[in-house]
Amino acid sequence: MTYETILVEQRDAVTLITLNRPQALNALNSRVLADLSAAFGAYDGDPTQRCAVLTGSGEKAFAAGADIKEMVYKDAADFFLEDFFSGWQTGVVATRKPWIAAVNGFALGGGCELAMMADYIIAADTAKFGQPEIKLGVAPGMGGSQRLTRAVGKAKAMDMCLTGRMMGAEEAERAGLVSRIVPAAALLDEALKDAALIASMPPMAAMVNKEMVNIAFETGLAQGLLTERRLFQILTATEDKKEGMTAFVEKRAGVWKGR
Ligand code: CAA
Repeated sequence: MTYETILVEQRDAVTLITLNRPQALNALNSRVLADLSAAFGAYDGDPTQRCAVLTGSGEKAFAAGADIKEMVYKDAADFFLEDFFSGWQTGVVATRKPWIAAVNGFALGGGCELAMMADYIIAADTAKFGQPEIKLGVAPGMGGSQRLTRAVGKAKAMDMCLTGRMMGAEEAERAGLVSRIVPAAALLDEALKDAALIASMPPMAAMVNKEMVNIAFETGLAQGLLTERRLFQILTATEDKKEGMTAFVEKRAGVWKGR
C-alpha cells in the first residue's frame, strides 16, 4: 500500500504511523483521512501487529487541525451531504487493537481530536492542545466537545472551546488529558517502548481491555459493569487465559497464541 500523506513502518509487532505533511503542520485533509483509514485497517487486520503508535513528522506539530484550506470553499450543504468528518469514526475510532498517540508540538482542533481518538496520549513537553475552532466561526466536529469534556471536565473544556486558548503539556497532564509527559527528544522512543510492552502481552486481552475502558468512557455505570463482567467471562475461554494463569503458577513467562 502506498500512502501520500503518512509514513507507515512495522517494527516487529508495532506499527508506527507518522502524519507527514510538515509543510502544512500535518493538517488533516481528506487524503490524510483516507490514508489513515487504510493504515489503521491494515494494522487491525494484520495478525503480526499488536500495537500502533501515531505521531506527527517535524518538531512543530502533531497536527494543527482539519485542513482549513480544504474547508474554506465548502458550504453547509457540502458538509452535510458528505457527512463531513464521519469517516474518522469508521476509519480511525473503529480500530479494535490498541494504539497510542505520541503528541509533539501543536495538537489543535482536529489534531487534538485525533489524539483523543487514541487509547491514550503520551505528550512531549512541547505539546500544545487546543480547540480553536471558535476563532474560525465554527466549533469542534471530530469529537472535541465530547471527548475533551469527558477527559478534562466541563470547566476546562468550556474554557478551551470558548476561548480557543492552548493548553500546555503540564496543564494537560494535570487535567487528565494525557497519561504522561516526556522530553520531546525521547517522545518516540517512550511511545514505542509502551507499544512494545503492550504488544508483548496477550493480544485478545489487550483488545478486550481497550473495549472495556471505552465502554466506561461512553456509557453508564450499570451497563459498563455488566459488559465488563461478560467480556471478562468471554476472555476466560481463550487459550491465552489458560496459558497466562498456568505460566504464573509454574513461575515462567507466558507464550501467547493470540486466541
Ligand atoms: N489547515 C491548513 N493549513 C494549515 C493549518 C490548518 N489547520 N494549520 C497550519 N496550516 C499551514 C499554514 O497555512 C502554513 O501554510 P503556508 O506556509 O502555505 O501559509 C503552514 O501550515 C505553517 O503554519 P503557520 O505559518 O501558520 O505557522 P505558525 O507557527 O505561524 O502558527 C499555528 C502555527 C498557531 C498552529 C497556526 O498555523 C494556526 O493557528 N493554525 C490553525 C489552527 C486551527 O485553527 N486549527 C483548527 C482547524 S478547524 C478544525 O480542526 C475543525 C474540527 O473540529 C475538526
